[in-house]
Amino acid sequence: MLAIIGGSGLTTLSNLDVSHREVVRTPYGEASGALVFGQICGRPAVFLPRHGYGHTIPPHMVNYRANLWALHHHQVSGIISVASVGSIRPDLQPGDIVLPDQIIDYTWGRKSTFFDGVGSPVTHIDFTEPYDAALARRIAEAAAALGIGVAVGAVYAATQGPRLESAAEINRLERDGADVVGMTGMPEAALARELGVPYAAINVVANHAAGRGSSANGIRFDSLEHVLQEAMGRVKAIIERVVGC
Ligand code: HPA
Repeated sequence: MLAIIGGSGLTTLSNLDVSHREVVRTPYGEASGALVFGQICGRPAVFLPRHGYGHTIPPHMVNYRANLWALHHHQVSGIISVASVGSIRPDLQPGDIVLPDQIIDYTWGRKSTFFDGVGSPVTHIDFTEPYDAALARRIAEAAAALGIGVAVGAVYAATQGPRLESAAEINRLERDGADVVGMTGMPEAALARELGVPYAAINVVANHAAGRGSSANGIRFDSLEHVLQEAMGRVKAIIERVVGC
């Protein structure tokens, strides 16, 4: 059973034929919401909206550990994370779909590991390749089969939020080698790795990052809504194909 964590612009999965919902009790507190179980064209899938059903949980307040623990508890075979991003690389435009292959973590103060229990052995997971290559390849192949253009390979910078970045911060991220910027990619990816769950991301470019392109004079999120909604239609088609429709 594949899991989908939806971000801004994907708070419900309309192609999921819902069978039941379950509030999972976790040792880490409450997940962002009930897990929604169902089928996508006959294949089992489970959906979790990262920011809650009313989109009320900001990126730095998401209980990433509870979310990942709950999905792992249900023995999901993989997790596709959908998240919107700002583009730093000039060729990435609003509405573009990006499959990142690397992460730089600029977040702070988040509960970012399962391995902090008193008395549990110190554990250092390998994170050389932060996304699961096989799952990412399945996503890229699904997009190709559908003729949907995606940018394969990008460095995702995870910032703390909830505010957007300054132009100078974006310049720094670019110097660091980042291509896109978002607020939720970490610690989600690392926690999935700690649990041994294959995890890959589909990023949708919502805007040019601060000081770039049409964002040179400021970013207005309300004007991005229609771009995200159109792109999420393509993302849903890709997910259907990955699931096996
Ligand atoms: N910065 C950080 N996170 C984002 C952005 C951005 O410009 N756009 C969408 N998520």
